[in-house]
Amino acid sequence: MQDALNAILAKAAAELPALTARPEFEAAKARYVGPHGELTALVKRMGALPREDRPVFGRLLNEAKAKLQVQLDAALQRIEAAELAAQLGPAEDPTLPSPDAGPGTYHPLTRVREEMCRILHKVGFAVADGPEVETEFFCFDALCTPADHPARDPQDTFYFPATARFGNVARRTPGEKYLLRTHTSSVQIRTMLQGPPPIRIVSPGRAYRRDTTDATHSASFHQLECLYVDRHVTVRDLKALLDYIFSSLLGPETKIRFRPHYFSYTEPSFEVDLSARHLPKVNKEWIEIGGCGMVDPAVFAAVGYDPAVWSGYAFGMGLERLAMQLYAVDDIRYFYQNDLRFLKQFQ
Ligand code: DAH
Repeated sequence: MQDALNAILAKAAAELPALTARPEFEAAKARYVGPHGELTALVKRMGALPREDRPVFGRLLNEAKAKLQVQLDAALQRIEAAELAAQLGPAEDPTLPSPDAGPGTYHPLTRVREEMCRILHKVGFAVADGPEVETEFFCFDALCTPADHPARDPQDTFYFPATARFGNVARRTPGEKYLLRTHTSSVQIRTMLQGPPPIRIVSPGRAYRRDTTDATHSASFHQLECLYVDRHVTVRDLKALLDYIFSSLLGPETKIRFRPHYFSYTEPSFEVDLSARHLPKVNKEWIEIGGCGMVDPAVFAAVGYDPAVWSGYAFGMGLERLAMQLYAVDDIRYFYQNDLRFLKQFQ
């Protein structure tokens, strides 16, 4: 009897650790302890033993059962662990660096934007933000560009249907239309309506125009706007700021010049050209870079500032245009295509 028990245990010790799947395990378990199992058969034979032998055999049987159970538990645990590992897939260490991409870099437009904001921050300009979905009031009317103004035509672009609602951008008048802002100049008005001067803000952001995409046009692009309002601000202050900005960004050899122009929200108004021939990739003497001027008294009146007390200048420029000149990028579309071959050149 003892030998029979030992034989069963030995067989189980050899067989159970080799099992890898649950059906095999269940079958093996049945062969030992199921209703027709080998151990069960020995239990059944107990009745045939002489009465005095039964306690000894009973103890042996219980010991063997317990040992077998330990072996079965171990086998089942191992199979369950294997099943879980199969579900989880191959072991991976999520803290290891990705095998497919090197360290990231800043997008060239982000670089120019951040550098400009840093330079302007040094002379007291704080970053101001405005929504890309605007109302006609902020984008045009308050900037002295009423609906029938000719300067509005080229910017009369992406309007939303009259039924569109943008809860966070309040209309000033009922029926006023929403549109994608055509320039960041709308932030001038938003900032001035928030409180009294002095004001010194820089507002970079996206703007939208109904332009057909080609090498130098994109329906969505980036601008950077500056506004300074204080007492006794003059064109000289404006020129000094632009000299400071561009010589900080591009080096002291950089020159700027003003060309008379027309913007409905500044008087006088200028277009700004930049000369930076010392830069290796710049191949033009004068690069048109933005518009500027002295804030028109009518704009001050629209935001409730007294034009007799306050004066100011404003400046707006396109970030793509500047980046294209600086880095000799000949197609604006490269900025938006997320092509690593392009982006990696700005490491
Ligand atoms: N908003 C103008 C544009 O998009 C640029 C501009 C011109 C901004 C004159 C200004 C400004 O602040 O004073 O073309």
